[in-house]
Amino acid sequence: MNVGRGRASAFRLFHKLYTMSRIITLDEFITHRQKDFPYASGELTGLLHDIGLAVKIVNREVNKAGLVNILGKAGSDNASGDEVQKLDLYANEKLLESLRNSGECCGVASEEMEDIFPIQSVKGKQSQYVVVCDPLDGSSNIDVNVSLGTIFGIYRRKSHPGENCRQEDFLQKGSKLVAAGYVLYGTSTLLVYTTGKGVNGFTLDPSIGEFCLSHPDIRIPEYGKQYSINQGYYRRFDERVKRFIDHYSEAHMSLRYIGSMVADVHRILLKGGIFLYPGTEDRPEGKLRLLYECNPLSYLVEQAGGKAVHGGSLERITDIEPVQLHQRVSIAIGSKGMVEEFERFVQQKTASV
Ligand code: AHG
Ligand code: MN
Ligand code: MN
Repeated sequence: MNVGRGRASAFRLFHKLYTMSRIITLDEFITHRQKDFPYASGELTGLLHDIGLAVKIVNREVNKAGLVNILGKAGSDNASGDEVQKLDLYANEKLLESLRNSGECCGVASEEMEDIFPIQSVKGKQSQYVVVCDPLDGSSNIDVNVSLGTIFGIYRRKSHPGENCRQEDFLQKGSKLVAAGYVLYGTSTLLVYTTGKGVNGFTLDPSIGEFCLSHPDIRIPEYGKQYSINQGYYRRFDERVKRFIDHYSEAHMSLRYIGSMVADVHRILLKGGIFLYPGTEDRPEGKLRLLYECNPLSYLVEQAGGKAVHGGSLERITDIEPVQLHQRVSIAIGSKGMVEEFERFVQQKTASV
């Protein structure tokens, strides 16, 4: 893949339209970039359009969550064992609905569903792609008006087109993703995505209902001044992780932790920093899901020049072979220089044992 060429082409389009004082919508941008895809038949373009539409609907509901009766818990646990809140289910439904009607997607695996959701072909189309998603990230923040997110990843299927999709289509390494992105429902709503050729961000302009290019060619700073971790679990972390935290704390680094991975990673993408969700004694792989959260965000952060590794083995997250749909994974992700600093702390202990 030619990352440089993709980035240059994105920049040229941005520059051309910017100097004409014209906004670039997400749909225009996706269409313009279609020729960069390895199989430029328009399917992936169509799929990205459909995801863009679905998240606008989710955004509308997130914004009015306080006005209608969709706050609070739905009274069940999700497939990963966490308490499900109503808005999570709504977001899941809207994404499924949009992908079912799209015709470009043959199946979905979601944090909110125990099993994969195969999609029958629409209008005789033989869809090539499957989608993995965390429909609503940061659900503990729903009823306190703090930023939420949606995370998605797209794989090319391994099974034969025309057949039902299978688990193997979803259990692919993050490095096999053909596109990944997230939506941040914050003070404004942003969609950030990559197709393996740079990372671009779009802000939703509510007056026209369009995502407009606002952050072309995002590059994550090599270092940042902040680290992000749930330090409340400190006593349960491995000694190596504790020493790393102590080091940053002694260096007077600032701690920022929102509790929505999308929001924490987004801040790091723009400002630099490191986000950690390591394992603890009781949860050796931590809480975050490899397929729905860590792989798409790691792929995107890598595309922006950052790094993501397993919090214990230091294996590159996107090289891990998934074995289960709802697999959890310990993670350190963010600025390259800081993730490498974390690696040195973990290796030091290993060497002295
Ligand atoms: P989700 O709402 O999709 O279950 O994800 C919540 C995740 C993630 O967004 C966040 O970083 C983490 O949970 C926070 O967990 P802790 O409360 O254990 O820190
Ligand atoms: Mn999540
Ligand atoms: Mn979720």
